Amino acid sequence: MQYTLMHKNVPVVDMEVDETGFIAKLSKVHDERHLPVGVQIFSTGVDRKALNDWWLGRSIPASRVGLSQALLSMGVASSVLLIEKCFGLSLSDQYWVRPDEDITWESVNFFTNKFSTDVGEILFGRDPNDPARISLFSPDNTSDGWLRKKWIIAGSKRFLMKGGSGVFHQEPFNEVIASLLMTRLGVNHVDYTLTFDGEKPFSLCENFVTPTTELVPAYRVIESIKKSNQDSYLTHLLRCCEHFGIANAQGSIDWMLTLDYIISNEDRHYNNFGFIRNAETLEWQGFAPIFDSGSSLWHNTARVGTVVDSKPFKGKHEEQIKLVNDLSWFDFGKLDRVAGEIVNILSQSPDIEEARAKAISQQIVSRAERVEHRKAKL
Ligand SMILES: Nc1ncnc2c1ncn2[C@@H]1O[C@H](COP(=O)(O)OP(=O)(O)O)[C@@H](O)[C@H]1O
Ligand SMILES: [Mg+2]
Repeated sequence: MQYTLMHKNVPVVDMEVDETGFIAKLSKVHDERHLPVGVQIFSTGVDRKALNDWWLGRSIPASRVGLSQALLSMGVASSVLLIEKCFGLSLSDQYWVRPDEDITWESVNFFTNKFSTDVGEILFGRDPNDPARISLFSPDNTSDGWLRKKWIIAGSKRFLMKGGSGVFHQEPFNEVIASLLMTRLGVNHVDYTLTFDGEKPFSLCENFVTPTTELVPAYRVIESIKKSNQDSYLTHLLRCCEHFGIANAQGSIDWMLTLDYIISNEDRHYNNFGFIRNAETLEWQGFAPIFDSGSSLWHNTARVGTVVDSKPFKGKHEEQIKLVNDLSWFDFGKLDRVAGEIVNILSQSPDIEEARAKAISQQIVSRAERVEHRKAKL
């Protein structure tokens, strides 16, 4: 199938997608400035391998809970093939593929147009409204991450609804606790609330991307220049930020690593944080509000307080916290009485007993205290 890769209203490059969903051929380059971040153009043309990596990265990952059953129900052989069913549109960025010049971004984008709930329902393990007439026109086709999730429309807003995992289904509660901590500490973040579908807990957060902006995952940013062997992972990221003119990255990284230390986050990989840019002017606006803090607080173990690995710069939290430059913004006093609120949040879970809730809350307070001690030493 022949398409033009579009960035909102800007044609970027003409491309051919084969029957397996891969980009088989690239032809006319319309505007190389609008290529996805990290995709280079050489004298021989656009790096097709890098563009394919980016394109495949738009598909639902193989690790997504319930994916194979969902694909069977939809009659689609692989999640890569789902991308084309919604013109590759997403609610996190402004890229899409246009099969025909008559189609405009205004007429198809998911920010202002309604979308089908069928894919979301099927991904949640349920039957679509009318199984005989399934519509696959949905931003769920291009959503990342392994937890069960779907986009929903409420009024003119779009919200991401995300489930939990394992025996505790703790991730939605963790998102709410992380939101509470970041609100108290004045850290720019995505606010999550709790909702239930029957007995099952889910988190809800509003889309932080607008029709003129987009999220560029840190993973794309670190791909933009070659890492020198002398540079640490953090230095490399900061160098890439400097290259793009992204201001105050270190300050936001200080926030993120401090939060991750306090909640003992296990999953801050390079797709779980990023940067916001204006999709029209390509101007960088800075660090994205912190999102996806759910894989933390010993979410999948009965051993609350056990040492867990950290990401993305160091493998141990005790090492990673040392990368924080400035803690002058951190005020332990602002976490006053937070322990009781955390227990209250966790008490809404049918799967978490009081003793576990209290142990988690105590861990948060004592880890925050350790940050306060670090601050005194800096
Ligand atoms: N509020 C949001 N607004 C826009 N995009 C979002 C929002 N929350 C998440 N995303 C996008 O969806 C992806 C998956 O969400 P995430 O919370 O990371 O799920 P998971 O916990 O399964 O990894 C993120 O990597 C990001 O690209
Ligand atoms: Mg994620």
